[in-house]
Amino acid sequence: MTKGPRIAVVGSANVDLTTFSDHFPKPGETIFGDKFHLGFGGKGANQAVAARLCGADVFMVARVGDDLFGPATIKNFEKLGIDATHVRQVSGVSSGVAPIFVESSGQNRIIVVKGANDALKAADVEAAADMLKSADCIVLQFEIPLETVYHTIQFARKNGIRCILNPAPAQPIDLKAVAELDYFVPNETEAETISGLPARNVDDAKRCAEKLLAAGIRRVLITLGANGALLAGSDGMQHVPAFPMKSVDSTGAGDAFIGSFATFLGEGLPELEAARRANLYAGLSTTGVGTQKSFYERARFEGEWTRLQRT
Ligand code: RIB
Repeated sequence: MTKGPRIAVVGSANVDLTTFSDHFPKPGETIFGDKFHLGFGGKGANQAVAARLCGADVFMVARVGDDLFGPATIKNFEKLGIDATHVRQVSGVSSGVAPIFVESSGQNRIIVVKGANDALKAADVEAAADMLKSADCIVLQFEIPLETVYHTIQFARKNGIRCILNPAPAQPIDLKAVAELDYFVPNETEAETISGLPARNVDDAKRCAEKLLAAGIRRVLITLGANGALLAGSDGMQHVPAFPMKSVDSTGAGDAFIGSFATFLGEGLPELEAARRANLYAGLSTTGVGTQKSFYERARFEGEWTRLQRT
């Protein structure tokens, strides 16, 4: 794989336990599911893997538990060519895990048990400072402590490094603490929780984006699933339509979007084209089962991109 932009992900690593079923048990009830998939996940790790598969030079700052999943997660990063020097095991704590339930429409519900992800502190970011300072872009999510996220945003600002935050899973936050970001990338649910406004369609998303921009955030990119994405800044708003897909599992599509967007932007593509390409990369990920396992290698993605530009 050729050298691409240097992307650092300060974030989570989980193991995903995905069950496919069309209905869910009532309290006290046991039902049969249709199938099961075990895979590496976690929003941070997924974004790192998407960036790597798109050709970025990626390094990860994360914590895993002292269980079976911890060393396996580190090996997975290494196997994919992601620098895991700053991925450490924490003793006496489980790795992050995510039981995931997927319906036949591809829609998912996720419960995250953060485990060792909660042990990633500001001091760990400082310990990785030399590596982080060499990055073109730092990518963050909310599956690690918020103080660590806020600290890393300040670190990126102080060192002039592009910073992208995916505020997932949704939680109410201090908007002033994230105002120094380059990109704030929520999905509909996260945009709703954080702005306090509905974000069910493009017009709703525009109102959310207005509120977030008014709070001082520079650029907002709201991902809207099958409705694509909305790119917003002081220079205006642009709807970026999705590419229609036969979706079987939408889990990790947002992560695919962010990891690929960070890479395309880091390669110097114009922002709008980076978002259009990220839309396709995310859409393609929904056609396969699992999170990281469903992400495309760059060459395969380029084949689809070229084909769609011709049609
Ligand atoms: O965004 C999908 C991810 O959310 C899953 O991989 C799961 O681990 C949770 O973090």
